[in-house]
Amino acid sequence: MEFTPERKAKFERILKRYPVKRSAILPALFLAQDQEGQLTRDAIEYVGRLLDLTPAQVHDTATYYSMFHFKPRGKTHIEICTNLSCALSGADEMLAKACQRLGVREGETTADGRFTVSRVECLAACGGAVAVQVNGEWVENAREEDLSKILSGALSYRPFQWPSSPGDPVLLRNAWKQDSQSIQVYEEGGGYKNLQKHLSMSPDDIIEQVKRSALRGRGGAGFPTGLKWSFLPKDNPKPRYLVVNADESEPGTYKDRLIIENDPHQLIEASIVSSHAIRSRMCFIYVRGEFWQGIRTLETAVAEAYAAGYLGQNILGTGVDVDIVVHGGAGAYECGEETALLESLEGKRGQPRLKPPFPASHGLYGCPTIVNNVETIACVSVILEKGAEWFAAWGTEKNGGPKLYCVSGHVERPGTYEAPMGRITLRDLIYGPEYGGGIRGGRELRAVVPGGSSTPVMTSDEIDVALDFDSVAKAGSMLGSAATIVMDDSVCMVWMALKLTYFYKHESCGKCSPCREGTGWMLQLLERIENGQGSEKDLETLWGVSDAIGGKTLCPFGDAAIAPPQSTLKKFREEYQYHVREKHCWRKVARSFKEARAKAGQVVPA
Ligand SMILES: Cc1cc2nc3c(=O)[nH]c(=O)nc-3n(C[C@H](O)[C@H](O)[C@H](O)COP(=O)(O)O)c2cc1C
Ligand code: SF4
Ligand code: FES
Repeated sequence: MEFTPERKAKFERILKRYPVKRSAILPALFLAQDQEGQLTRDAIEYVGRLLDLTPAQVHDTATYYSMFHFKPRGKTHIEICTNLSCALSGADEMLAKACQRLGVREGETTADGRFTVSRVECLAACGGAVAVQVNGEWVENAREEDLSKILSGALSYRPFQWPSSPGDPVLLRNAWKQDSQSIQVYEEGGGYKNLQKHLSMSPDDIIEQVKRSALRGRGGAGFPTGLKWSFLPKDNPKPRYLVVNADESEPGTYKDRLIIENDPHQLIEASIVSSHAIRSRMCFIYVRGEFWQGIRTLETAVAEAYAAGYLGQNILGTGVDVDIVVHGGAGAYECGEETALLESLEGKRGQPRLKPPFPASHGLYGCPTIVNNVETIACVSVILEKGAEWFAAWGTEKNGGPKLYCVSGHVERPGTYEAPMGRITLRDLIYGPEYGGGIRGGRELRAVVPGGSSTPVMTSDEIDVALDFDSVAKAGSMLGSAATIVMDDSVCMVWMALKLTYFYKHESCGKCSPCREGTGWMLQLLERIENGQGSEKDLETLWGVSDAIGGKTLCPFGDAAIAPPQSTLKKFREEYQYHVREKHCWRKVARSFKEARAKAGQVVPA
């Protein structure tokens, strides 16, 4: 095969953006797949010739990512997320219905080649559950009754209506304006006004300000950003890179998407000053591949910023050069882990590297690199605009600044809300009328995952905790990506652990055996228990297997994967025991566990 002249020209433009040819492999594969309808053997060989790679190297990379396919798909590809937040709104039933109506199984294409239906993992659209993508476009808040319209073509785009945040938001100040993505609207709101001034500051001064601001990384671990930046080696002559992590794949998390889709220039301006601060001339924004719309929006905004002289060489006469490349991933949760992301950006399978060395000394192409989350980088402009002291005081001690909190699941008002870090509690986020608005349908709260799927579940008695990194850690869980998934008393905790363990098994990159094998064993055990075929011994084995993963894997994915089974075994053991004793899930006989226990003749504690 050969690219059409149009695709060839596009590929040549893309290739020029990268210092190393192989980095262009994902865009090249997308172009080939788009042209051929699938990745054929010919397409693999052709991409190899374009990038000086063997077919085996191209195949090795392509087969890692879920967005590449090796057989044809239907004209309309319907992808239904069945991860936890969507499952709480009936995603599994919707998927089953779609398959039934089309007479196919998951992942199959109808005989006439018109439709393919697939199950996908969290799309970062958890507030708009059930999240569906139709040929890559959002159809959110989807229900079974929408299927007819989706199949007839009458419904192909329906984005989530994000509720606004109370008070005067800082990070979300532009997000609700008309045409908020455009450079004009951003400039009218004061955007880029102080870029020249900030680029005239010395890089060390900016790092000092970021240190004083108490900004901690918003990607999950809460590492102090200024401190991370100061780890860059002073005497390394190699180029430096800033990599903005927009992979946003942690189930429950849909905050970076809001910035990318609604206020891309905020991220671009902040990336420019952050690049200057770490003396980098090149910034990559690695966006998860499923964000078709976000990638388009960012690429348009980057082009606008170049045209206005905010990017490129000698920006606004300051002598500072910064280029930004928007790089789309191709579907792999593990690519959010910083070293896996760098491997992916280098054009390989997104599998993590052994640390040390850390990216600060040995990152992209072996050069000093800083990887930061979208929200973290967005905060840098706020620090420079308002001052480090203002930023620090806006949050709580050691937890500076504004924070985006996601809430999804069984709440009345799912959304991504901004609040000063640590100044609201988990209860406020769930029940506050200006936030989650309470439990849907007047039911009782059963449990809550506070910071994305990899954080230990909390009970309804544990929600009076301030939402900052230290307070949630002290309460025995983690703030993580501040993505709260709320579950009412109709939810079985064994089912919940099973759902998330399915995700971790699916996404394990396979590089180290405790995670590769262990996630599968945990899944088998949980399936057995949930189906009423488990024994008391299985509970011990489940704990033992999870213990053999925790702290023993190459990357923190292993610790993330054991959070759902371990925390439910600890806090909701009675539910596991019920499954073993009664040989069925309590949802078969009751609307809540309390009711099931009463029916089974057990005393319900007050
Ligand atoms: C399995 C896994 C997935 C991750 N996914 C993301 C992600 O989607 N976005 C993100 O910013 N960080 C993610 N991280 C954290 C990154 O490795 C890294 O710590 C972060 O991007 C650093 O940015 P920060 O200091 O601004 O938080 C993930 C980590 C792990 C172990
Ligand atoms: S812990 Fe899992 S995701 Fe991380 S390297 Fe090992 S197999 Fe891969
Ligand atoms: S989009 Fe479905 S769980 Fe996140």
